[in-house]
Amino acid sequence: MKTKEDLKIYGGIFDKETLLTLYTLIRKKFITEVGGIINSGKEAVLLHGRKSAKEVAIKVYKTLTSNFKERRVYIEGDLRFKRMKKDMKHLVYLWALKEYKNLKRMYDAGVNVPKPIICKKNILVMKFIGEKGTPAPLLKDIEINDANKIFTLIKKDIEKMYKNANLVHGDLSEYNILIWDIPFIIDVSQAVLSSHPYALDFLRRDIERIFFFFKKNGVTTGDPLSFLKQLLKEGKGNEPR
Ligand SMILES: Nc1ncnc2c1ncn2[C@@H]1O[C@H](COP(=O)(O)OP(=O)(O)O)[C@@H](O)[C@H]1O
Ligand SMILES: [Mg+2]
Repeated sequence: MKTKEDLKIYGGIFDKETLLTLYTLIRKKFITEVGGIINSGKEAVLLHGRKSAKEVAIKVYKTLTSNFKERRVYIEGDLRFKRMKKDMKHLVYLWALKEYKNLKRMYDAGVNVPKPIICKKNILVMKFIGEKGTPAPLLKDIEINDANKIFTLIKKDIEKMYKNANLVHGDLSEYNILIWDIPFIIDVSQAVLSSHPYALDFLRRDIERIFFFFKKNGVTTGDPLSFLKQLLKEGKGNEPR
């Protein structure tokens, strides 16, 4: 799909403004082709696409939740709703931009994340992890035979994220890691700066989840809290609360 006309088939899923944004990205050549849906979640729809020869992942954040849509009749005639709708839309734009900025910060710090390409309104374009339109599998879905190696690489990524990018993922688990030979960390919109008041709680939870998963998969992980303490000692972050 390359033209405004082509994109009309997405009319059922995306609103007019989203279609326009998608089209603008095509016109400016940030995307040269829009393909099929990879995943449709609660907050975003993931599309496969191309930027010339390269494959890209297009994350389209939903601007109105379905829950909201059901209540449409009650609110649409209300003048106050117009303002609210606008504010919510802008909140979603901010959320998309936050994911873009987090991705960029992590990528620059050497963390294995999909390289970010551009963010416009509610659409984030990044490198596609996978091949020929088939996305790399999630860590939770694969038969792991090199669990030790994958575990070590993820620990390295957590470390780089914290020490070099000053970020904590906040929702790290086998659901947000793609395996394409090596692990790629995704879904970073909620990541916070290590100065965030809950950063340490998030970091501890991230580490505990990863350690738990690999322990379950036969890895001698060691103690997650020792790893956390080591990170805090070496990193720039604060002492645990
Ligand atoms: N860069 C990418 N390359 C390939 N597939 C991706 C990429 N980013 C996301 N996906 C796929 O889309 C799914 C949803 O993306 P994610 O960022 O986790 O959004 P959600 O908020 O819906 O969980 C992922 O589980 C993965 O299968
Ligand atoms: Mg996810």
